Amino acid sequence: MPVLLVVVALFLAVELPAYLGFDPAASRVPARLDLPLHYPLLVAHILFGSVALVTACLQIWPWLRRAHPAVHRWSGRIYLFGGVFPGGLAVLGVAPVSSTGPVSAVGNTALAVLWLATAAAGYRAVRTRRYGDHRRWMLRSVALTFSIVTNRAWLVVHLLLFGPFLGDDPTALGLAAAGASVWTSWVVNLLVVEWWVLRPQHRAE
Ligand code: HEM
Repeated sequence: MPVLLVVVALFLAVELPAYLGFDPAASRVPARLDLPLHYPLLVAHILFGSVALVTACLQIWPWLRRAHPAVHRWSGRIYLFGGVFPGGLAVLGVAPVSSTGPVSAVGNTALAVLWLATAAAGYRAVRTRRYGDHRRWMLRSVALTFSIVTNRAWLVVHLLLFGPFLGDDPTALGLAAAGASVWTSWVVNLLVVEWWVLRPQHRAE
């Protein structure tokens, strides 16, 4: 999807540079120096997540699937084995200690588990030639991959919504908005995709 590729390119141009120098001091998420694996796992999940975001755009591009099925197969393998699986495993070491508190930690850990599970279900379906199931599971997986992008928009919405109530306590406002954004960023994506794949004309596939 060319439009999504542009969105992803802009997102990565803004987000990635802070992590490419492998310098914990430059990290926007405070590195947990008491947990030696925290920063390496954070950077690993961001790099693998970037691979997942770029290849996800290729995977859901109908023209590319139809015109170049071999590219779809290869980019699908990269999406799974160079993106979601290593990125999902790495983030399991980061999500439970999210810097924005327990609401974020629970939401991010649930997201990580579902990210791995939907991708595994999609891979299993294609290996057993259940192409309708494959399509549905991979759309769910991509919806979860894109939660990192929708998260940024939700954060602005929640800061505006909660501002009038918590505006005089910036720490409480930040934690509330971050926690709510983690949850809405993936639950809403998943609901939209669920509606899409369960529309009557798609159920029979
Ligand atoms: C879908 C499963 C994902 C989960 C569960 C997840 C979880 C997390 C967690 C827990 C953090 C640390 C937050 C904190 O401690 O405050 C984080 C940060 C980050 N994640 Fe992910 N993530 C996922 C996907 C992605 C993807 C696909 C990308 C794409 C590049 C990505 C890019 C980032 C970036 C750039 C940060 C640092 C944020 C910043 O600098 O403000 N994540 N993520």
